[in-house]
Amino acid sequence: MSHDPSRISVLIPQDKVEARLKELGEKISNDYAGKELCLVCVLKGGSYFMIELAKYITVPVTMDFMQVSSYGSATRSSGNIKIVKDVDEPMTDRHVLIVEDIIDSGRTLSCLEQLFKDRKPASLKIATLLDKPDRREVEVPVDYTGFTIPDAFVVGCGLDYAQNYRNLPYVGVVEFD
Ligand code: IMP
Ligand code: MG
Repeated sequence: MSHDPSRISVLIPQDKVEARLKELGEKISNDYAGKELCLVCVLKGGSYFMIELAKYITVPVTMDFMQVSSYGSATRSSGNIKIVKDVDEPMTDRHVLIVEDIIDSGRTLSCLEQLFKDRKPASLKIATLLDKPDRREVEVPVDYTGFTIPDAFVVGCGLDYAQNYRNLPYVGVVEFD
């Protein structure tokens, strides 16, 4: 099935991404005023979003990273996730914001949400750069969404196709001939 993508068409241009990240950063700074925020990046896709977003957050921030992989097929995430790398610091009594690249079926974040809830943070919220609601199989409470997009396979701003294109400063749709 797999072919090389013939081209990538721009879905969300760089200036729109940057403007939205600034807006979200300002909103998060207001919402967490007087608090310290613990950003938890879901590797690898969430890295770009977390770093770019953090530039616009003015409350004190710490950063931690985790990596999960889903059991089963490579292109669809299954319900069960395996922790490849866990966060380094305890999350108890902290204000935790999980930062993801995209919510597709919702399975990854739904598992992560439960995992973090069990660790008794002071608060737990979820931020995603992109949301594909048409594909949702499991409901996830998303607190901050960059953009809602149609059901297409996208790359850039952290998102990959076979580990490529994560560095593109815009969101593009991969097109195959
Ligand atoms: P789900 O919400 O558990 O189905 O899985 C979301 C994960 O699937 C994301 O964190 C991405 O790694 C990956 N993913 C879903 N849609 C796309 C896409 O359009 N481009 C690149 N990765 C995607
Ligand atoms: Mg991901």
